[in-house]
Amino acid sequence: MQNAGIAELGLNWGYLAFDVHPDLLRAAIDGARAMKFIGLNLTVPHKLMALQMVDVLDESARTWGAVNTIRFEARVAGGTVWQPLSEIEGYAEMEVRSVGFNTDADAIVKSIEEDPGIKLRGARVLLLGAGGAGRTAALRLAAEGVGELFLVNRTVSKAADVAGEIGKRFPGVPVRVGYPSGPVELVLNATSAGLKLNDPLPLDVAAYPLSQTAAVYDMIYRPAETPLMKAGRAAGCRVTSGIGMLLHQGAHALEIWTGRKAPVAAMRSALLKNVYGT
Ligand code: ATR
Repeated sequence: MQNAGIAELGLNWGYLAFDVHPDLLRAAIDGARAMKFIGLNLTVPHKLMALQMVDVLDESARTWGAVNTIRFEARVAGGTVWQPLSEIEGYAEMEVRSVGFNTDADAIVKSIEEDPGIKLRGARVLLLGAGGAGRTAALRLAAEGVGELFLVNRTVSKAADVAGEIGKRFPGVPVRVGYPSGPVELVLNATSAGLKLNDPLPLDVAAYPLSQTAAVYDMIYRPAETPLMKAGRAAGCRVTSGIGMLLHQGAHALEIWTGRKAPVAAMRSALLKNVYGT
């Protein structure tokens, strides 16, 4: 996806995956800085640790409490203006700093509004999961002004903690722990249940049948159809995987590194081809 976007923009860059042990994350970020990398993406389990390891946190990383994108910036020795490394030619004497961003949170909203096409403002949403992804989704949905948010998690106390945080940060948004008593527009899965084909469903369909929701969005994108997506389809819901979320967090990261609009269509087709072979 990133290499397709980079090619479409005509840039002579490459995007590579590195497997970094959590104990070596700081060394890896410092190494990338020393080698004048333009930027990095981080994934599980690095997104929280990186908050302590970058020189500057962008507002997005501060607001959502995780870093999934780093941009390296430089200023010539004695200068005052920091510029993205992508804008700097040559190898002048310069200081380099790392800036941490979060592009995951906005990608959640963008993807849900695109497909299944739900206007989140005012919508009733049942959110499953209160781990890292669930917390970010809950806070971002609250920031979007959902009409009512229901939080369900296997470990109930974690859902209660997230509800408490929403109560403090977004007091205007009604949030409850537990299943709704009536229909919702969206069931959003932010648990990891479904990554494996014989995982249990992330919700109890006896307590809350999927016929009560118009749409099911599963943040998981592989396998292409999770047990939840299958159950949602059988119940007549509109069903969407998390591939759009993956696309939009990546497209926004490319914009942060390049300062240019991301070629989303080219990135989407490369992503679909690589993940699903279609
Ligand atoms: P991530 O960063 O992907 O959110 P995480 O923080 O480990 O990962 O969170 C995983 C989430 O999936 C949690 O909400 C977890 O529930 P618990 O808080 O009870 O652990 C949920 N989860 C994982 N396996 C599950 C399963 N088999 N059934 C239901 N929920 C599950």
